[in-house]
Amino acid sequence: MCGIVGYVGNEQAAPLLLEGLSKLEYRGYDSAGVAVYDPSTGLSVHKAKGRLAVLDKMLDGGRSVPGRVGVGHTRWATHGAPSDVNSHPQISRSGRIAVVHNGIIENYAELKDFLQGQGVPFTSETDTEVVAQLVEYFCEHDGVDILEAVGRCLRRIEGAYALGILCADAPDQIIAVRKDSPLILGYGDGCSFLASDVTALIRHTRRVGYMDDGEVAVLTKDGIQCYNHLMQPVEKEISYVDWEIDAAEKGGYEHFMFKEIMEQPQAIRRAVGPRIRDGEVFFEDFALSDDYLRQVKKIYIVACGSSYHVGMVGKYNLERILRVPVEVALASEFRYMDPIVDGATLVIVISQSGETLDTMAALREAKRLGAKILSLVNVVGSSIARESDQVLYTWAGPEIAVATTKGYSTQLVVLDLFGLHMARVLGTIDAETCRAILEEMLRLPEKMEAVLENKDAIQYYASQYFNHNSVFFIGRNVDYAMGLEGSLKLKEISYIHSEAYASGELKHGTISLIEEGTLVVALGTYARLFDKAMSNIVEVKARGGDVLALTTEDHGQEMAKVANGVVTIPNTHPMLLPSLGVVPLQLFAYYVALMRGCDIDKPRNLAKSVTVE
Ligand code: AGP
Repeated sequence: MCGIVGYVGNEQAAPLLLEGLSKLEYRGYDSAGVAVYDPSTGLSVHKAKGRLAVLDKMLDGGRSVPGRVGVGHTRWATHGAPSDVNSHPQISRSGRIAVVHNGIIENYAELKDFLQGQGVPFTSETDTEVVAQLVEYFCEHDGVDILEAVGRCLRRIEGAYALGILCADAPDQIIAVRKDSPLILGYGDGCSFLASDVTALIRHTRRVGYMDDGEVAVLTKDGIQCYNHLMQPVEKEISYVDWEIDAAEKGGYEHFMFKEIMEQPQAIRRAVGPRIRDGEVFFEDFALSDDYLRQVKKIYIVACGSSYHVGMVGKYNLERILRVPVEVALASEFRYMDPIVDGATLVIVISQSGETLDTMAALREAKRLGAKILSLVNVVGSSIARESDQVLYTWAGPEIAVATTKGYSTQLVVLDLFGLHMARVLGTIDAETCRAILEEMLRLPEKMEAVLENKDAIQYYASQYFNHNSVFFIGRNVDYAMGLEGSLKLKEISYIHSEAYASGELKHGTISLIEEGTLVVALGTYARLFDKAMSNIVEVKARGGDVLALTTEDHGQEMAKVANGVVTIPNTHPMLLPSLGVVPLQLFAYYVALMRGCDIDKPRNLAKSVTVE
């Protein structure tokens, strides 16, 4: 939610800020703005409602705004509707302090009352304006410098925030603050950067520092000084980002989502290959000891959205091979449901971004209750990764499209790998079976490539059904879990109403919604329950529904006898079926959204990284 950038150095800042924001637009895209300081013009603020392109055009790509220091913002509105005035940067009464913010200042109303009582006028409806006004208030009222004023402000504000602050009275620096919202420092030659995400930096520097909660940083062109929450100087560890720059570019594809779908075989290779050795799972420097795993009585998987759907697949797979109870919880519910968690509970937290606020809050609650945390995260150095007892990175590479694809499929295989590792420790799976599954896992990328080659058939089905208003996904067991993801993909990017049901539930209510021409996507890849899948298809057909079915090559012909259309995936081990089966569902959603003229990479009202509750 919201993207922040900052630059101080010898180059013109505005073009660099706009370029950085273009990489962060996936985080929010209802308005954008920059504040730049130049000795001749002072602190100038430029902002506009709408996509970044509006601001970019207004500023002629940044060329019309002089200055070598500035901050920028792309917004996902929380407080105050998207509008020019509510866009960031927010400025103080005198116009001398500009603030960009990602997060929520929870006690803003009380602070606003206080400041208004002191005669400070407000112009926006945002919580962020309170920060700009409060910092200025401390500068003026207490006669302190900007850094001290920021420190005093931090002692008053509550909530989650990443802040970039530029002050006309100290124009050679940017002050950055982080609490519960990501913020990354970039160390350049004769310049320094600030960004919500490394994708906005890697064109300019690969040397980054991940800010910790409560830290304050002062960026100048000569370097960056960090302070802890007591404003004592701290030494920041510098990490090297080895991502390919191209990985965060479209590379000739029309959409990031399509590119990321096509990248899945390679992503799976990366996630799996190095973790299999001699027919066993191999995790380097794994902190969860065998003794610890042996005393685990229950596993909780906690996540949001698609990552939660990975957990749903995980429940079926893990319980089958571990014979340990697995509960899956929505992170947004977890901390409010008084979860039964203790030292014998392993909590597996799944998050592509590693920054989802609900997931982070659930992680902290689970830790507080005494559980150990294993996280599956894509973004290296993200908050969830850093607060976990053990992280398994999914190594999907940067994922830019709001709708996750390679993020989801790499989470699936890494969770499977962990399940196999634990099953070997517990002795619930023998070496032979484990080896066979791992060998099959190594074949997944090739099989996935075959599924991707069949994309024209899926495009054809999309052309048949793209104008439907309502779709149901049905399946049992792993097919049901996979249906949840297929349904979410479709609704989030095509805006078609879509729901996923466990097939057996149809007759308990949902079947009353099936009428002539209703599209039902029936998932029947799980051989053990294939006959039941067939029966459900027949029931739907008998009520006039149109059935698009998904099954394995072995069952394709059989299914074609009852369904209106069939897509097949190569046969594989049951545990791995969702890894292949989800790909046609992603493609179906993609093509449907394309045919409906939707903004695929940036669906309305959404953002990639959800850092508000
Ligand atoms: C999926 O396509 C979504 N955009 C969304 O549901 C996402 O999976 C969810 O917000 C969780 O994000 P995370 O994995 O980064 O925590």
